[in-house]
Amino acid sequence: MKLKPEIALTFDDVLLVPKRSTVTSRHAVNTHTFFTKNIEIAIPIISSNMDTVTEADMAIAMARQGGIGVIHRFMSIEQHVEEVAKVKRAESFIMAHPYTIRANAVLSAARAEMESHQIGGLMVLSESGELLGVISTRDMIFETNDARLVSEVMTPRSKLITISTNDIGANADHARNLLREHKLEKLPVVDQNNHLVGLITAQDIAKSVQAPNASKDANGRLRCAAAVGVKSDDLDRAAALVAAGVDALVVDIAHGHSDMALNMVRQLKSCYPHVDVVGGNVATADGVRDMAEAGADAVKVGIGAGSICITRIVTGFGVPQLTAVSECADAGRTLGVPIIADGGIRTGGDLTKVLAVGASTIMLGSMLAGTDESPGSTLQRDNKRFKTVRGMASLAANIDRRQVETGREVDPEDWEKVVPEGVEALVPYRGPMRKIIYQIVGGLRSGLSYAGARTLQELWNNAEFVRITPAGRHESGAHDVEL
Ligand code: XMP
Repeated sequence: MKLKPEIALTFDDVLLVPKRSTVTSRHAVNTHTFFTKNIEIAIPIISSNMDTVTEADMAIAMARQGGIGVIHRFMSIEQHVEEVAKVKRAESFIMAHPYTIRANAVLSAARAEMESHQIGGLMVLSESGELLGVISTRDMIFETNDARLVSEVMTPRSKLITISTNDIGANADHARNLLREHKLEKLPVVDQNNHLVGLITAQDIAKSVQAPNASKDANGRLRCAAAVGVKSDDLDRAAALVAAGVDALVVDIAHGHSDMALNMVRQLKSCYPHVDVVGGNVATADGVRDMAEAGADAVKVGIGAGSICITRIVTGFGVPQLTAVSECADAGRTLGVPIIADGGIRTGGDLTKVLAVGASTIMLGSMLAGTDESPGSTLQRDNKRFKTVRGMASLAANIDRRQVETGREVDPEDWEKVVPEGVEALVPYRGPMRKIIYQIVGGLRSGLSYAGARTLQELWNNAEFVRITPAGRHESGAHDVEL
């Protein structure tokens, strides 16, 4: 038998030792970090690619908070693309593909188009793509004849304020001034031939002022990542996601240190060298090295650490999370590959500890599953509200996945052929996700000041841990008081 001599540790086995600090305020620290080699974000938090955690709503909220969401893959390719597209459309400096209608369409078509996209206006174009006007719900309020042509009712080009691609330049000041000066809601962007190339909205500019730390791409659109598996049709999925503008692909399978996952990372990097690829999940330095050699731009670490995971029980495999992340982060640092610590985080203290051992970001599952932005509705039990969370290798998730893949109901007799490595559970309803993020990032900010660190790099350098006993753990929580 080969037995490693060191004892593997996890969150409750250790505490960080306070260090002399020059930090005067929690606000004086900087939580910027790298999600992947090329994507810098303002807070070190990623929402998990679980079907009870991240679809477009969560990814939008995460990006606005300064993190990033990974949209899960347990849906059709078309739905997956639509979820990415929702994030990409949610805000941008210039919306690249505004909704349009032809001038010779009738008003009923314009109404239907606006209703289906839940918007208040459409750009009116000629057959060749020239901007001829704008039609909005306001233009149509008093129109009773829905057979009239859009061109008869629209606000014509001569009355529109527009901005030319030449005038936008490197910054948004000119556009902002036009919006303010003319009290406009929308500013169409046209090229020198009057072809519509995009739309700037006052709402988007206001949003970027409200969320200055939002994670955005070069076009001012919110960033998001999406998960892919390792089967051959996952290459089609990846192609469609890249075409939809996804910022990073996350190759996510339970045992990422496998030829299948490594080959997928290699293939994706050779097809899309400009798109960052995350590989995982692994739990050893060797896993990180092989992923880096395959071309991964970040590696996700965590086998069996998650709240809904039973992989360690069912298979006997896994490495307690702090030791796993520490080993992997040492390898990642040498190779210049950021490490994502995935699973097991319950508090700001856990977040600080796992970053202190060298992770660049952390991935959250069930902590976010109870929020407004996670998929699914709330349910009531004993006068309390809950939402569901389920492991992606749980029985129900397995059955649903097969149904999505085959388009057929799974025969109940086949259910017992599944060997689940995850559970389904309830989590308390927690309201908007920003409250959770505020609390745990607040814990991290305080943690940085205890470490005498202003940045996550300084936290890595200054961190010193002590091992604790069950008595130390008991002392760490509220004790000997009536709560
Ligand atoms: P938390 O603790 O944040 O963990 O809820 C989320 C992470 O758990 C992993 N995950 C699973 N692991 N069986 C597993 O062994 C599963 O069914 C399963 N589903 C999710 C995943 O890495 C996620 O981000």
